[in-house]
Amino acid sequence: MDTNKFLFFFKDMQTSSYALQLVEVEKQFGDVRAVDNVSLEVKKGEFFALLGPSGSGKTTLLRIIAGLESAGKGSVFIGGKNVTKNPPYARGIGMVFQDFLLFPHKTVGENIAFPLKMKKMSATHQQEQLSWVLDLVRMKGYEDRFPNQLSGGQKQRVALARGLVARPDILLLDEPLANLDRELRKEMEVEMRRFQAEIDIPFVYVTHNQEEALTLSNRIAVMKDGHFEQVGDKLELYDEPATAFVASFLGLNNTISGEVLRQENDFSFIDWKGIELKIPTPNGIKPGDRIAYYLRSEKMHINPHGKSNPVDGSITLTAVLRDIIFKGQYSDYFVILDNDEEMVISDVPDIESLKIGGKVDVSWLPSSGFSFAADGEE
Ligand SMILES: Nc1ncnc2c1ncn2[C@@H]1O[C@H](COP(=O)(O)OP(=O)(O)OP(=O)(O)O)[C@@H](O)[C@H]1O
Ligand SMILES: [Mg+2]
Repeated sequence: MDTNKFLFFFKDMQTSSYALQLVEVEKQFGDVRAVDNVSLEVKKGEFFALLGPSGSGKTTLLRIIAGLESAGKGSVFIGGKNVTKNPPYARGIGMVFQDFLLFPHKTVGENIAFPLKMKKMSATHQQEQLSWVLDLVRMKGYEDRFPNQLSGGQKQRVALARGLVARPDILLLDEPLANLDRELRKEMEVEMRRFQAEIDIPFVYVTHNQEEALTLSNRIAVMKDGHFEQVGDKLELYDEPATAFVASFLGLNNTISGEVLRQENDFSFIDWKGIELKIPTPNGIKPGDRIAYYLRSEKMHINPHGKSNPVDGSITLTAVLRDIIFKGQYSDYFVILDNDEEMVISDVPDIESLKIGGKVDVSWLPSSGFSFAADGEE
């Protein structure tokens, strides 16, 4: 880091309201650049998600923050202190892992109090903290059980309690709900939000599940090949994805691509395998270039053929309804278009009047999708 940057950074730290700061962190394993020049600020009280596909470097980055892995380059600041050279126990962090990592021969109480014992905290103080955290995770009365006498959800609560018992400056969680079944995961997601809001300790939460990231967090960093594709408020990422990768990773998408035939105002008309489609023109795109277009299923509408009443400026295509998947509040409708391509529409239409095999109208506003220059990853 050059001197100017350092001074600026130092000044920044003095008034820092950040719970965590990463400055140009890197990690190389042989040929693999697992973390590639990552900088990040997490504010106090924030629920922050690190979201990315398998192998994108999420766990490695979390382990660098925790001090379980050394950073090849860069610095880690926790609560305004440079902890880059500190061991894990001297960083003010708590950790929760996917596989719980409870001690099988210790009771729930002993498991949870373990970090306090390591800190050589007085017995009275230990008891106070234990009682606080057992209340928080609603495990009062389970202190004397052993881990093999608990359900999956209860084990996860114990792991959470152990991460929080010493009131860390920040809690790091690596796919903590991945081993739970769907129903329990949904229930624990609600609990996680409640814990976090109640104690006001910032969470950095690793997941490859976009739905979980969107449900839980305030802000999200989308990771790919060791770097951040985009960092921001979750609504911003959802509504204004900066890259094709972010657009395709968040939400249930229809991916459409084709060559630009002609352009009019801010729109391009592309040839999508025989269907001419109007889509917003990405920066710098000319006729003859290829575009990838991501259209969220929930931005589309479906109606029986001839019964649609689309808003001004919508596109309407005729299709055949192939399948309906009931999702409760809405359904996913799979249709085949005239060019033999499939699309999925999430909508809440009059379900009685839509029949599998029947003709339907599918409509959407061109501006409701995201378009990017196609770069071979489409
Ligand atoms: N100790 C290690 N030695 C060598 N390569 C490693 C090591 N740890 C991780 N890697 C590599 O670094 C990259 C990032 O791995 P990492 O575990 O951080 O990914 P991840 O995003 O957590 O993935 P997942 O969602 O599957 O848990 C991968 O290519 C992985 O193979
Ligand atoms: Mg991982």
